[in-house]
Amino acid sequence: MIRSFLFVPGDSERKLEKATAVGADAMIVDLEDSVTAESRPRARELAREFATGMAGVWIRINPVDSSDALADLEAVIPAAPDGIVIPKPRSADDVMRVAVKLDELEDRHGLDAGRTRVLPLCTERPRALFALDSYVGSTPRLAGLTWGAEDLSAALGARTNRDESGNWLPPYELARSLCLVAAAAAEVPAFDTVYTDFRDLDGLARYASNAARDGFAGMLAIHPGQVEVINHAFSPRAEDVQRAERIVALFEENPGAGALGLDGEMIDRPHLIQAKRILALAADIKNRQ
Ligand code: COA
Ligand code: MG
Repeated sequence: MIRSFLFVPGDSERKLEKATAVGADAMIVDLEDSVTAESRPRARELAREFATGMAGVWIRINPVDSSDALADLEAVIPAAPDGIVIPKPRSADDVMRVAVKLDELEDRHGLDAGRTRVLPLCTERPRALFALDSYVGSTPRLAGLTWGAEDLSAALGARTNRDESGNWLPPYELARSLCLVAAAAAEVPAFDTVYTDFRDLDGLARYASNAARDGFAGMLAIHPGQVEVINHAFSPRAEDVQRAERIVALFEENPGAGALGLDGEMIDRPHLIQAKRILALAADIKNRQ
C-alpha cells in the first residue's frame, strides 16, 4: 500500500540519485511537465537505467494523444517499472490505449502479462470530470486515481486555483472530491495531489492529515522533505489501530450480531470494514520496516 509517491524530474541525474534514500513508498520519474522537449530523449534513457532492477519506480509518460507517449513507453517498459502515471486522460479510454500498448510491450520483453500498473491523473482536463465513471471496471491494471489542479485551472482560464489562505477554490475542491469518489466507485485507492509550497511542512501536515481523514490513501510529493510528513499522515495512528482491534474482536465474539455497542456508540458493518482496512494497512507498514 502506497502512502507517498515522490516525483523526480527524469532529466536530473542528481535528483534521481537522491530519491532512493528518501523513504518514499514509490517514486515517479517524470518525463512530462518537469522535462523540456529537448531533454526528453536523455530523460527516457535515464528513466530506463534508473528503473532497471529497482522496485517502487513509476514513470509519468506524456499525454496519450501526444506523439511522445509511445516513445516514452517503448523506452521504459524494458526496465519493468512498477507502473505508469498517465497525465491528462480524457477518460478511461485513454488509459485503455496505454493498457493495450502495455500488453504488447510486456509480451515483447518477456514480462509477466499485466504486471505494469497504471495511475491516471483523472481531472486535468475539463471533459475528464464528466467521464470519471468510465474507470469503474476499466482494467485490472488500475492502481488508483490521482488528480491535478494546475492543468485544469489553465484550461478553465482561471487566474489562480487557491484562495488567500491557500485552500482550493471551489472548482478544484470539486475535482478533488470527484477523484476520491471515482476511486471508491472503481474500488481503487485515491491519492491526493501535490502540495507545491514545499518549504511549508506545517501546512503540508495539515493538508495531508485532512486528506487522510477524507479517505485518500496517500499523496504525491515533489520534494524529499515532504515524504516523511506524508508517510506519517497516511499511517494509522496507534489509537486507531487499538480501536480497530477492539472492533474486529467484538464482531468475532458476537458472530450473529449485525450491530453492536462500543464505548457507548453503535458500530455495524461499515465500521468493521474500516477497522479491517486500518489493520491491513498497519500490518503492511510493519512488514516493510
Ligand atoms: N527528488 C529527489 N531529490 C530532490 C528532489 C526530488 N523531487 N527535489 C529536490 N531534491 C534534492 C535537490 O537536488 C537538493 O539536493 P542537492 O543540494 O544535494 O542537489 C535537495 O534535494 C534539496 O533541494 P532544494 O534545494 O530544497 O530544492 P531545489 O530548489 O533544488 O528543487 C524543485 C526544488 C521543486 C525544483 C524540486 O524539488 C523538484 O524538481 N521537484 C520535482 C518536480 C517535479 O517532478 N514536478 C512534476 C510533478 S508536479
Ligand atoms: Mg501537469
